[in-house]
Amino acid sequence: MTFPPDRILIFDTTLRDGEQCPGATLNEEEKLAIARQLARLGVDIIEAGFAYASPGDFAAVQKIAEVVGTPEGPVICSLARAIRQDIQASAEALKPAAKARIHTFISTSDIHLEYQLRKTRAEVLSIAEDMVAYAKSFLEDVEFSPMDAARSDPEFLYQVLERVIAAGATTINIPDTVGYMMPQEFGDLIRGVCTHVPNIDRVVVSVHGHNDLGVAVANFLEAVKAGARQLECTINGIGERAGNASLEELVMALHVRRQYFNPYLGRPVDSTAPLTNINTQEIYKTSRLVSNLTGMLVQPNKAIVGRNAFAHESGIHQDGVLKNKLTYEIMDAKSVGLHENQIVLGKHSGRNAFGTRLRELGYELTDQDLNRAFVRFKELADKKKEVSDRDLEAIVNDEIQQAPELYHLERVQVSCGNPSCPTATVTLRTPEGKEITDAAVGTGPVDAVYRAMNRLVEVPNDLIEFSVQSVTAGIDAIGEVTIRLRHQDRVFSGHAANTDIIVASAQAYVNALNRLCYALRQPTPGVQSQVASNT
Ligand code: KIV
Ligand code: ZN
Repeated sequence: MTFPPDRILIFDTTLRDGEQCPGATLNEEEKLAIARQLARLGVDIIEAGFAYASPGDFAAVQKIAEVVGTPEGPVICSLARAIRQDIQASAEALKPAAKARIHTFISTSDIHLEYQLRKTRAEVLSIAEDMVAYAKSFLEDVEFSPMDAARSDPEFLYQVLERVIAAGATTINIPDTVGYMMPQEFGDLIRGVCTHVPNIDRVVVSVHGHNDLGVAVANFLEAVKAGARQLECTINGIGERAGNASLEELVMALHVRRQYFNPYLGRPVDSTAPLTNINTQEIYKTSRLVSNLTGMLVQPNKAIVGRNAFAHESGIHQDGVLKNKLTYEIMDAKSVGLHENQIVLGKHSGRNAFGTRLRELGYELTDQDLNRAFVRFKELADKKKEVSDRDLEAIVNDEIQQAPELYHLERVQVSCGNPSCPTATVTLRTPEGKEITDAAVGTGPVDAVYRAMNRLVEVPNDLIEFSVQSVTAGIDAIGEVTIRLRHQDRVFSGHAANTDIIVASAQAYVNALNRLCYALRQPTPGVQSQVASNT
């Protein structure tokens, strides 16, 4: 790919490395919804999945290549082990994309060679070279990652990199797979690669890293100073174990501190030209979408996208901000798309006003989605006098959620209090269209609802996470419920929003059960479990 050398490329791996964390499993429609939003966000490359891992992964990569991989859109990438079948599957799935990349990898650290691959350095060198050449026979754009690069012998690393570049790699990605490095060390590693690999000037140097010691973002920023020009990151930093480097933190650090980074990219200090292609105003919306669809909540104090990231609680800070925002704010909440919580609509607002406001907030819905969301809005406006932007976002995120609807929640009724025995009666419509009803008692109303549903659906599972958050302040606020449940060794999430938190809890559970039942109907994942621990 051609790119301006003084700009940082953003390679988003939310749908590949991000999706690898327990419970973040997404179905094809959800992956597509996220990929579309990533394209609106302006990422340069979307790693859409691991095509060979399972038929579902293959189909998702193919669909994203077809729908999002337009000539103006991002490069679509698929991960492949340095194995022929993986590379072939990636090439096949990527065919519909206007711009496509195969990302192939093999470990280079002695510890991985000895215990995991059981191969010699000479064998790894030759596999890496051959498989890059093989990938190149399908596509011009080939990325190579020496897995566990951070713990590899630098001399061997340089040798592998030189050979894969000669074989045709166009991007060289240096992963800190186990999240071990400190910022200065990681910067030195990249500097070493840039100075000791003789043909390095023919490729883009990229970085990838996990956040086990909480310094992934800091490591990447040092890497930029040392010559890295592509950053592999995920929305909300989700990913394996402690996650990946977080896209929003990297982008905003590069944006807010442009003057600091400009000289490292050969620009005048005062240049105002953006360092990335990201439309920062899409950040908040993307974060919410990923959190809702994966069920991975964002911690309130998370930089940039946490609920408290722009809230000033202390009296001294509030006083300062009221006098002049710059006293305590280094960036404007609007720059990440966090709009003031305006009260915009009420029960007399029509479909037009509703659609217009959604467009102003950046939501482009299909007519069908708009109609569904409008019905929800009317229901809400009947219960809640004033409907704010945050409420609208909650409705839309809820409505465009793509949990496959096998079971449909028809009715839920609870009786509880003190003293009383919490009891719930639930009616579901089955995938075959039959209404089924059952009742149960529980330790509380939500427990009773979930027990009643389990009697109806009859798929064993354990509820491992339940959380309720209110969208806005006030007694009539919408409550958002996010849950995660485990069936055997797999985790499924569900999310729903309603002014009645029992209804939201019931709907979130139905969404998670639907995901679980849908997954049980799919062919068993191919090599996914086998390879997941390798990446
Ligand atoms: O963490 C890692 O090393 C990876 C590679 C496949 C790039 O995810
Ligand atoms: Zn990784």
